[in-house]
Amino acid sequence: MIDSNRQKILDEIQRHIKALTRGIYALVIGVATLIYYLLNPSILNVDVQSKESVVVAEAPLPEYENGIHLATGFKEGENLNLVIANCTSCHSAKMVTQNRATRDGWKTMIKWMQETQNLWELGESEPLILDYLAKYYAPEKAGRRQPLTDIDWYELED
Ligand code: HEC
Repeated sequence: MIDSNRQKILDEIQRHIKALTRGIYALVIGVATLIYYLLNPSILNVDVQSKESVVVAEAPLPEYENGIHLATGFKEGENLNLVIANCTSCHSAKMVTQNRATRDGWKTMIKWMQETQNLWELGESEPLILDYLAKYYAPEKAGRRQPLTDIDWYELED
């Protein structure tokens, strides 16, 4: 009788200890979660909708496609802004893009336009414009077909 009473008390104590342990676990996890949230308050920002609309509002217009400036047809490259500002007001950009020349060649064309077509002085922009033109509208290196070399000529017999 005494033994079974003792056993009951022991069981009771054990139950309490288990409950206490569970409580402590829960508390530790809760505190850890709280600390994590305080350090990273943004983890609860699941407002995906508003984020997307901000991105759309800020997204720039697709000015270039495949390296081509859509509005003018110029190849994308440094100093293109100067070329557009100075070379598209009298004639279309096509007049430029359909031509190929060396840096000297482009310089000659600019000089010609300045002497005969009222093209203004380009000042500091001129070397930058020439940089762009000489780089992106240079003469094509190879012709349509490489000239034949090392041909084994044979004698025609008559
Ligand atoms: C003030 C007006 C004006 C500006 C600005 C101008 N051009 Fe011209 N350009 C002309 C005129 C006019 C022609 C001749 C058009 C024609 O033949 O129908 C011409 C012709 C050309 C041609 C063709 C030349 C040829 O031999 O066929 C090229 C290439 C050209 N321009 C490039 C440029 C570049 C590069 C710029 C910027 C640096 C520029 N133009 C700025 C007036 C201008």
